[in-house]
Amino acid sequence: MRALVRETAISATDLVLPLFVHHQQADAAIVAMPGCSRQSIERTVATAREAFELGIPAVALFPALTAAEKSSTAIESTNPDGLLPRCIQALKRALPELVVITDVALDPYSTDGHDGLVESGQIANDPTLPILAAMAVTQARAGADVVAPSNMMDGRVRVIREALDAAGFTKVGILSYCVKYASAFYGPFRDALDSAPRFGDKQTYQMDPANVREALREAALDEAEGADALMIKPGLPYLDVIRAVREATTLPIAAYHVSGEFAMLKAAAEKGWLDYDRCLLESLLACKRAGADFIFTYGALDAAKLLKAHRDG
Ligand code: PBG
Repeated sequence: MRALVRETAISATDLVLPLFVHHQQADAAIVAMPGCSRQSIERTVATAREAFELGIPAVALFPALTAAEKSSTAIESTNPDGLLPRCIQALKRALPELVVITDVALDPYSTDGHDGLVESGQIANDPTLPILAAMAVTQARAGADVVAPSNMMDGRVRVIREALDAAGFTKVGILSYCVKYASAFYGPFRDALDSAPRFGDKQTYQMDPANVREALREAALDEAEGADALMIKPGLPYLDVIRAVREATTLPIAAYHVSGEFAMLKAAAEKGWLDYDRCLLESLLACKRAGADFIFTYGALDAAKLLKAHRDG
């Protein structure tokens, strides 16, 4: 009876697995994200294969660059032979049906650790747009199916759409991280990529956690500029925002169950204070109930295995 009247369901097909790729051969565990590591391209393909076989349709790639590859202009982000393009190529060769989503932001490539270019100690919005567009085209050329601008520069979706179309990538989609808060829950992720801002914080371009009307404005702008799907991030602390954007758009909505949310579950479980499996599935279900169509989560493999066990058992 409970199954008949259930309003929301979560399945592996709702999930996106974020993956961290690095140059080294050996996996490097990410301390505050137990079970996650930076992996070589080969190992990333193996993990993606496991995800795909569990029914997870997509992965989101994040490259961990060496200090030598970082610069104030983040120019490595447009290198067609860089770590990320090579990883995209390897994934699409091995798993052509897997959806590969790439992040469009300068921070992993930037010595400043900011998502935009820094001029005189300030984030320079408009000068950042051409490099974001070039980065997106580089990713598309390598085989990315969806580019996901997470940088929160104003006007980025339009210039990326125009650049992709001009380069012939009309079928590459844009998943805009349009409602991205200046959140302390990103801490473990920045440690994973060594990408924390070297000065200041991201409050001049990421959103104030106090605001929800502003989220609707950001969503409307990105939709008008040509976004194919909209992301709200973080997830669980912002369920009201997911619901508000859901009611304001017909576009698909993604939620990002971010690194800090994942770390909280893992840490409490390690202490024996929470049941990780149940709390993970409940968190993801809550994001869906609030209105998300799909969810980025570091727990995607765990969740897919649990859902499969429930089905088979
Ligand atoms: C980079 C980016 C961040 C995350 C995704 N893309 C970090 C940030 O904005 O500082 C965070 C993801 C997470 O915490 O899981 N622009």
